[in-house]
Amino acid sequence: MCGIIPGIFVAFFIFVSMKKNILLAVCFVLPLSIAFAQKPEEAPLDRQERMQWFQDAKLGIFIHWGIYSVYGIDESWSFYNNMISYEDYMEQRKGFTAKNYDPDAWAELFKESGAKYAVLTTKHHDGMALWPTKYNDLNVVKSTPAGKDLVTPFVNSIRKAGLKAGLYFSILDWSHQDYPEFTRTVKKYKDDPKRFASFVDFYSGQLNELNNLFKPDLFWFDGDWSYDEKAFQTDMVKARLYKDNPDLICNSRLRGGDYGTPEQGLPLTAPKEDYWELCMTINNSWGYQPNDKKYKSAAKIISIFADVISLGGNLLLDVGPMEDGTIPEKQVEVLKELGRWTKKHETAIYESLPGIPRTHFNGPSTLSKDSTILYLFFDYMPNEDIVLKGVKNKINRIWVVGNGTKLKYEVFMKAYWSQVPGLVYIQVPDEVLDPEMTVLAVLLDGKIDLYGEAGQVIESN
Ligand code: GLC
Repeated sequence: MCGIIPGIFVAFFIFVSMKKNILLAVCFVLPLSIAFAQKPEEAPLDRQERMQWFQDAKLGIFIHWGIYSVYGIDESWSFYNNMISYEDYMEQRKGFTAKNYDPDAWAELFKESGAKYAVLTTKHHDGMALWPTKYNDLNVVKSTPAGKDLVTPFVNSIRKAGLKAGLYFSILDWSHQDYPEFTRTVKKYKDDPKRFASFVDFYSGQLNELNNLFKPDLFWFDGDWSYDEKAFQTDMVKARLYKDNPDLICNSRLRGGDYGTPEQGLPLTAPKEDYWELCMTINNSWGYQPNDKKYKSAAKIISIFADVISLGGNLLLDVGPMEDGTIPEKQVEVLKELGRWTKKHETAIYESLPGIPRTHFNGPSTLSKDSTILYLFFDYMPNEDIVLKGVKNKINRIWVVGNGTKLKYEVFMKAYWSQVPGLVYIQVPDEVLDPEMTVLAVLLDGKIDLYGEAGQVIESN
C-alpha cells in the first residue's frame, strides 16, 4: 500500500505543473506506484503482526534429524567435503528406521525446556526428504526402512503441545541431477541457466508442497550461499509462499526474509536486524554424533540464553536425535535442566523487551513489556551487594524472581543537588541464589528512565 500514496502525490504534482503531460502521469507514474505496492517479496500481513509470537517466544528447539544419524557423521557435509564417498553416505539409508520415533514425547520435552517453537530439518543438503514428496523418491518413505512420513506427526504433536511448528528446508540439493554442485571438488555442470531453472522448478515445487501440506508457522531456509537470488528466483518463490500462507515467517536464508540468523557465534551487541535468532548446537554437532562429547552444560546454555534475550534475540537450541528417533540422554538432561530454570524465571523471559546497557548493570537484563519492571540476571555468588547504576526512577520494590523473597537495598552517592541518580546496592543473601542463574525483579515507579547526561556542575555542597 505504501507505494500507492506517494505515487498519487507525484501524479497530482505532474498534473498541476505540466498539464500537457497528464498522459505521462497516468501512463508512467501510476503503474510505477502499483509496481512498488506489489513488491513481490512483501508479505501480505503486517510484518510486526506476523512477527509478534516469534518476538515473544525467546526459545526454540532445532532438530537435525536425517540419515546422517546412522553413522553419526556430519550432516550432508561429510560427503560434500570428501570425508566419505557419496555411495557410502547413502548406504546409511538402509539403517534409518525411526522405529522409536515418538513425536508426542519430543513435543512434551521441548515444551518442558521452555521452548515455544520447534524447527525440524525436513530436507538437508543431501536431498533426503522426511516427508513423502511427490517430486522424487529420495524420501524416507520410499528409500529407508522407516517407511513413513515423519513430518506430519511432528507438526501435529508440536501444535498439540501448543508450540509453533517450523520447517527447515535446504534450498540447495547436492543429490539432485539439476543442481550444479555435487561435492567440493566435483561439479555436475557449469553455466547452464536452463538446467538451473529446472532445479528452481524442483525446489520451489517441494517448498510449495510443504507449505500447502503443513502451513508451517515458520520456514527455516538454508543453503542460499552458492548462487545469487536471481538464479534461485527467491522473490518469486517467497511471494508464492506468503500468498498461500499469509501468517508465515521466513528466516533470512532465502535472501531478505523476516529475521536474521547468526549461527554459533554469540552477538556481543544487538545485531542490526529488527528480529534475530541465534542458532546453536548443544554440543559441537548439528546432528547426532556419539563421538562428540563436548556438551555445553545447562548453566552455560542458560547464561548464553540470558545474553541473547538481553539483546532482544531468540535462541534456537539444536538437538540431534539418533536414527531410531531417540533423543540422546545427555541432550534430554540439558533440556530438562533448562526447563527448570525457564519455568522458574518465566516472567523475566517471555514477552520481555531487551534490557539496559551494561554500563548500568554489569550483566544481562530484560524489561517487562510495559518497561516498568527491570530484570537483572547474574550467574555468580556476589562478594558483596549487586549494584544498579543510573536509574532515575524511584524503586518501589525488589524481589527474587521465582522465589519471591523481598530484598533490602540502599542508595549511595545521591547528592541532593545533583540529578545524577545514586548507586542502588541490592543485598542478596546466599540462600536465594539459583544454582545456575539468579534473577532479580526491580519494580519501578513508571517506565524505566535511564540517566545518560554528562556529569553535573557543582553548585552547592
Ligand atoms: C550450517 C551447517 C548446516 C546446518 C546449519 C544450521 O549452515 O552447514 O549443516 O544445518 O548451519 O544452521
